[in-house]
Amino acid sequence: PTAATRDGDGVLRLGGIPATALREHFGTPLWVLDEDEVRATARRTLDAFRAAAALHGVQARVYYAGKAFLSAEVVRWVTEEGLAVDVCTGGELAVALAAGADPARLGFHGNNKSVAELEASVEAGIGSIVIDSLIEIERLAAIVDRRGVRQSVLLRVNSGVHAETHDFLATAHEDQKFGFTLTDAAAAASRIRELPGLDLVGLHCHIGSQIFGTAGFEESASRIVELHAELLAGGELPVLNLGGGFGIAYTSVDDPTPIEELAMGIADAVARQCEVRGIPIPNLAFEPGRAIVGRAGVTLYEVGTTKPVEVDGAERLYVSVDGGMSDNPRPALYGAEFSARIASRASDSEPVLVRVVGKHCESGDVVVDAEYLPGDVAPGDLLAVPATGAYCFSLASNYNYVPRPPVVALRGGEARVIVRGESIDDLLARDAGLTGHPEKGI
Ligand code: LLP
Repeated sequence: PTAATRDGDGVLRLGGIPATALREHFGTPLWVLDEDEVRATARRTLDAFRAAAALHGVQARVYYAGKAFLSAEVVRWVTEEGLAVDVCTGGELAVALAAGADPARLGFHGNNKSVAELEASVEAGIGSIVIDSLIEIERLAAIVDRRGVRQSVLLRVNSGVHAETHDFLATAHEDQKFGFTLTDAAAAASRIRELPGLDLVGLHCHIGSQIFGTAGFEESASRIVELHAELLAGGELPVLNLGGGFGIAYTSVDDPTPIEELAMGIADAVARQCEVRGIPIPNLAFEPGRAIVGRAGVTLYEVGTTKPVEVDGAERLYVSVDGGMSDNPRPALYGAEFSARIASRASDSEPVLVRVVGKHCESGDVVVDAEYLPGDVAPGDLLAVPATGAYCFSLASNYNYVPRPPVVALRGGEARVIVRGESIDDLLARDAGLTGHPEKGI
């Protein structure tokens, strides 16, 4: 959390609480999420997009992309701050509904929503469903017809902008599973408009995640507005959803664009393109996940062993912690970079090159690939790894039968568990070889 300070004795405080007290009370590994920071970031993000939209006389809605981190408390924090919520499975939908989110302010995504998921969304009275394929159009139409209701939908379009490589001038469409190409979208829109049970309210596009500059978003926005303008001939399209993907700083070299600047840049790009086409500017929607929760999370680990390893005359200290790829698979999955520091004490020992690794039986189980830590880093030290609020809890696994840690929220100088940790018994409870075979086979 940004509210991290050091005590006189060098102990890191998170949201006003000594990291050592968090360890004593909740154990390690521990996912810590700063509620005050999530709320403040949610508000700031909403304000930024609303202000940018207002400059062009339209409204903005911000959906929190629940895939980044979803629990009942988090749903309540972001909805209380005025955000809507984007879910992409029946499970995420269930969490949002159970937490009391207004169904009308939920959006449902996904390239392969099951019939059961579509049924559950329609039954809940979900605000919008983002259509991802021709098959899904017919599937959803059958469901709403049977129920005699009407459902608002958006059409997901692939703008062809390659965010990952920042090769945003590429014109070839991306070879990926989501949405319709710019060319195929018009036919899909016409089909939706033929169906009385479906109400096409707008287009949707999402170009990727952890994106730093504004250029890719702006390029994508102007391409999508071209299509939006064409489709206006067939009926109204009050909404344009431009997705999420706004990057955050993981390490000191990362320099993301401030959200206010991004919001202005994207809204300007939309407005410019609308002006060129002589069409009204639609209301805007966005779906940030990482940018809302990423920086508000920190993971605490305890060092178990250290081991110097010499490679080509250079020494690196391996520092093993009590978690790893089961609570943060991002380094293994994406080569993602994080940083680490000792949280339990000060040290004036010379910094040495370390690699922070986990406890899993796999050499790719790295938490921080390269970091300088005080040379006296030792068993029992507490390590803090910042910026783990997004896609760590949500991507976690039980690899090697490691129970998932609890999530602790910080608010106003207090800490409480918002998702309980697992025990080994929780894991054994699923093993039918131990519990008997309650489910009938065939
Ligand atoms: N909207 C859609 C349609 C998405 O697919 C995503 C992310 C978002 C919004 C939110 O993107 P964000 O603002 O969080 O970047 N597991 C990966 C990230 C996968 C993102 C998938 N979709 C990671 O750990 O980096």
